[in-house]
Amino acid sequence: MNQPAMEGLRLNVPAYVRHNRLVAWVAEIAALTEARDVYWCDGSQEEYDRLCQQLVDAGTMKRLNSAKRPNSYLACSDPSDVARVEDRTFICSETQEGAGPTNNWMAPAEMRALLQTGENALFRGAMRGRTLYVVPFSMGPLGSPISQLGVELSDSAYVAVNMRIMTRMGKRVLELLGEDGEFVPCVHTVGAPLAEGQKDVTWPCNKTKYIVHYPATREIWSYGSGYGGNALLGKKCFALRIASNMGRDEGWLAEHMLVLGVTDPAGKKHHVAAAFPSACGKTNFAMLVPPAGFEGWKVTTIGDDIAWIKPTADGKLRAINPEAGYFGVAPGTNEKTNPNCMASLQRDVIFTNVALTDDGDVWWEGMTDEAPAHLIDWQGQDWTPQIAKETGRKAAHPNARFTVAATNNPVLDPEWDNPEGVVIDAFIFGGRRSTTVPLVTEARDWVEGVYMAATMGSETTAAAAGQQGVVRRDPFAMLPFAGYHMGAYFKHWLNLGAKLQEQGAKLPGIFCVNWFRKGADGKFTWPGYGENMRVLQWILGRVEGTAPKGEEHLFGTTPRYEDLNWTGLNFSADQFKSVTSIDREAWLHEVKLHDELFELLKSHLPAELAEAKARLEKHLTA
Ligand code: OXD
Ligand code: MN
Repeated sequence: MNQPAMEGLRLNVPAYVRHNRLVAWVAEIAALTEARDVYWCDGSQEEYDRLCQQLVDAGTMKRLNSAKRPNSYLACSDPSDVARVEDRTFICSETQEGAGPTNNWMAPAEMRALLQTGENALFRGAMRGRTLYVVPFSMGPLGSPISQLGVELSDSAYVAVNMRIMTRMGKRVLELLGEDGEFVPCVHTVGAPLAEGQKDVTWPCNKTKYIVHYPATREIWSYGSGYGGNALLGKKCFALRIASNMGRDEGWLAEHMLVLGVTDPAGKKHHVAAAFPSACGKTNFAMLVPPAGFEGWKVTTIGDDIAWIKPTADGKLRAINPEAGYFGVAPGTNEKTNPNCMASLQRDVIFTNVALTDDGDVWWEGMTDEAPAHLIDWQGQDWTPQIAKETGRKAAHPNARFTVAATNNPVLDPEWDNPEGVVIDAFIFGGRRSTTVPLVTEARDWVEGVYMAATMGSETTAAAAGQQGVVRRDPFAMLPFAGYHMGAYFKHWLNLGAKLQEQGAKLPGIFCVNWFRKGADGKFTWPGYGENMRVLQWILGRVEGTAPKGEEHLFGTTPRYEDLNWTGLNFSADQFKSVTSIDREAWLHEVKLHDELFELLKSHLPAELAEAKARLEKHLTA
């Protein structure tokens, strides 16, 4: 057999693949990683079922009781591989200044030597004994002018099946790529090669981890982790870090935002995009059930985590959800906090790191008021409420997740798959702050809104490895996801607003919210969840010009008690005061934190934001 024919055989290229550059790249990566064989995913149900069965046979996943949770699985990861690793995430732009001070950086040549080209490069032989899965995917509706294509090469079948849920994946994408279509190349290995005859572990991974982005060549290389955003490369790596670079170059936005539709009783529909840091309730907000007093209102989901937003010729901002599924945090999700999510999870789900019940179903902290008498926890150990009391051990990992198709969502918006996207009427930015930040504030103009979003702070959660509950600045909820200098990213937002204004367009309103303020008793004062509809209604009233703007605030305006609709909720004016009041001392401290951020970003900090800060300081000291 001649060389090309031998290659062709080993690469198992399906007859429908016509893209020579893609095939050559697969060959190159298969050679570098010394993968045992190559498998091209077609995205079919038959393939999904087969790969899931293979993962069950390997002990990576358990099939759940099909009478209780049809077609669903539980995977439990290695205890060292449970969250995104921000300290191992790199933006390898040409210069360190390009990545900016909020990203880890290494020179591209140095990183390539470490990963690909050096004698002991980590990817050399990294897939030995494993199959290389070729996973072609579309971020966004197939063929949409806002969508982008990618191909992930991964040695993890768990990644392949999760990618089938999270993206439009398979043969259709290869057809769309044709002979020379553009795609973002994404290479992923768990970094656990198998020697001849070596028995595999149930969750292969490596202590060493690298999540690497090359913005100039739009490439992603991920080593050592099989978990979530570290491994499902369409999500944070592509749809945020690489796409934010595309957006800057091409004049659009890639944002860490849910997108929802709200229809009022008269049938008028608005769309809102809302940015919150990881594990701060984006999925709950995106599936909100309007409370008592809001009969006739309906909230529908377009996306729960990421939005790609493009200005159109008519001066509107149109958004798509680039994903096709939800990779949501399970703990805390229940029939009260998010009934639509619970309904979505009734079947066809991959759960990761939740607990297993004795009858083959799943459980996590907060799912029910009372925990089952006995469980197998996410680490495979016996768990009882008594053990939890004595040791504090959780049944589910706090960052345990579900992967489920958007089409399982009973309140999926009919426009969710529309290639044209939906028109955004308002942006909401929210952090998790037990003090200081009021329930809701409206920016008086675009620059003030960008200032609010840029200086947003939030208490850290289990979604990322590291200390939890500490306030950090998380501009636009994009701190771990902006793929270039954060100061330049602010400028990009300002430029976009200015351009639309020049066109005479009506810009979406910008609002800042905080559902998480706590009282002296240490408990959340605001009931949150469905009750957030009250704030949403005021926001839409402001967009329409029908709701009173409330009172001038340090920056922006805040509604008065009487400006919100309280039908169906017992929430006193005093309670409202405690979630909206401004503590001058706390704000003086807060502004110092804004200072620190601006000092860090000063080489690219837009003058407009420094001026907005000066105005805020003047108010504060007046
Ligand atoms: C996520 C995250 O998984 O933000 O969405 O961590
Ligand atoms: Mn997220």
